Amino acid sequence: MQTSTSQTVKPLRIAVLGCGARGRTYTKIAASMIGRYELTAAADLVEFRAKTVAGFAPEGTVRTFNSAEEFFAAGKLADVLIIGTQDAHHYGHAVSALNIGYDLLLEKPAAETLARCEELDALARKLGRRIVLGFVLRYTPFYSAVKQVVDSGRLGRIMTMRLSEGVGDFHQAHSYVRGHWGNTAKSSPMIVAKCSHDTDLICWLSGSKPKTISSFGRLDWFKPENAPAGAPKRCTDGCPVAAQCNYDAHRYLTEKRNFLRMIMDGYENATDEQVIDFLKTSPWGRCAYHCDNDVVDHQIVSTEMENGITASLTMTAFDHCRTIEIHGTLGSLRGGEPFSDAGTPELWFREHRTDNIESIPVADQSAEGYAGHGGGDFGLVNALDQLMTGDHAIPIGLDGLAGHQLAYLAETSRLNGAQPVNL
Ligand SMILES: NC(=O)c1ccc[n+]([C@@H]2O[C@H](COP(=O)([O-])OP(=O)(O)OC[C@H]3O[C@@H](n4cnc5c(N)ncnc54)[C@H](O)[C@@H]3O)[C@@H](O)[C@H]2O)c1
Repeated sequence: MQTSTSQTVKPLRIAVLGCGARGRTYTKIAASMIGRYELTAAADLVEFRAKTVAGFAPEGTVRTFNSAEEFFAAGKLADVLIIGTQDAHHYGHAVSALNIGYDLLLEKPAAETLARCEELDALARKLGRRIVLGFVLRYTPFYSAVKQVVDSGRLGRIMTMRLSEGVGDFHQAHSYVRGHWGNTAKSSPMIVAKCSHDTDLICWLSGSKPKTISSFGRLDWFKPENAPAGAPKRCTDGCPVAAQCNYDAHRYLTEKRNFLRMIMDGYENATDEQVIDFLKTSPWGRCAYHCDNDVVDHQIVSTEMENGITASLTMTAFDHCRTIEIHGTLGSLRGGEPFSDAGTPELWFREHRTDNIESIPVADQSAEGYAGHGGGDFGLVNALDQLMTGDHAIPIGLDGLAGHQLAYLAETSRLNGAQPVNL
């Protein structure tokens, strides 16, 4: 994991537009890093959310705004703006912010089309601004350890990568069926919304850009024809199979209660009755087979990179967590949480010549351990001041464009029956 070892002379001033789950997470972590970040402004359509974020800093130090327009009209209030609004708003908010003079921590996806992602890159270059995307996985202890092995040369010349992303069936139902990212027209394609992390990892770890891409993917399970007999439109309407259903919304009351933090204001102190009332009216109480979702529930992507490395990615609702394999001329690296869950090391190296297997340590330096995207939320905020200023700052422009190109062109290929697409 990248850590900041030296303090910047002056704290980096940050403002946040969109104080939902992501905006709140980043600012809460930043506020805990005393002397490194100064939170100056918070804007959200929902006053409670902006005020909640303002509450992370000393009283009276954070200006709050009730809309993006109001916030932008106030001029430049910080060095870096965190944009945590929803996918469809990123482009417009980012253009306004770049023109005002902010560098950006922009949540992924950068924009809702590839052309707009490329436009943001061009605008940032023209204006001399930096855009860091919310690719938190790069900053986890796990992927930092993977990157160190790759950069060490121990694998020899890298030939192939195999990644998988098991979204998990309840998580799929929560986010990509009932939730914000279930419908492409309202957000972005699943392979972008969920797996731009993974396509970014392919580019970041291979040190290259995609050359040719193809992809298959389908929505097969979360559809009305698979609904159990007698299932009503809402779980709260007395579903006869609730006790056996993986997606029963009543699970938000028990072992899935943690998911409420992303969607329900005041969830921390909510009673069970209040949660049930929320489920009766919000999208998250809907039967997972009776929603307006159209994004895929399984997809595969294959690509040949400019430097010759081939890579594949499997995204499926029906597995749990990510795995990665990187195969080179000298050895292979394998790892992921499903392995450690099953009792093998989380990350290990196998040398081809000797068949020797070595467990690679994964250092957990974050305050919150593996919560918060495997430590990546903490890791990204911990790196942000160095990514924006000083000797280790990222180049001007949009960092991570290649991963977005891979994800968007995979979707283009999928929609054209897996026809290969060249970048
Ligand atoms: N990096 C990651 O791993 C990761 C994880 C989850 C979500 N995301 C992305 O982060 C973004 C935010 O997701 P979230 O779960 O925090 O969503 P959210 O709905 O919880 O938060 C979005 C907030 O933006 C506010 N908002 C919307 N329009 C606004 C406007 N015009 N002016 C001011 N505020 C406005 C909303 O009121 C809401 O509070 C999305 O683009 C999502 O795809 C990234």
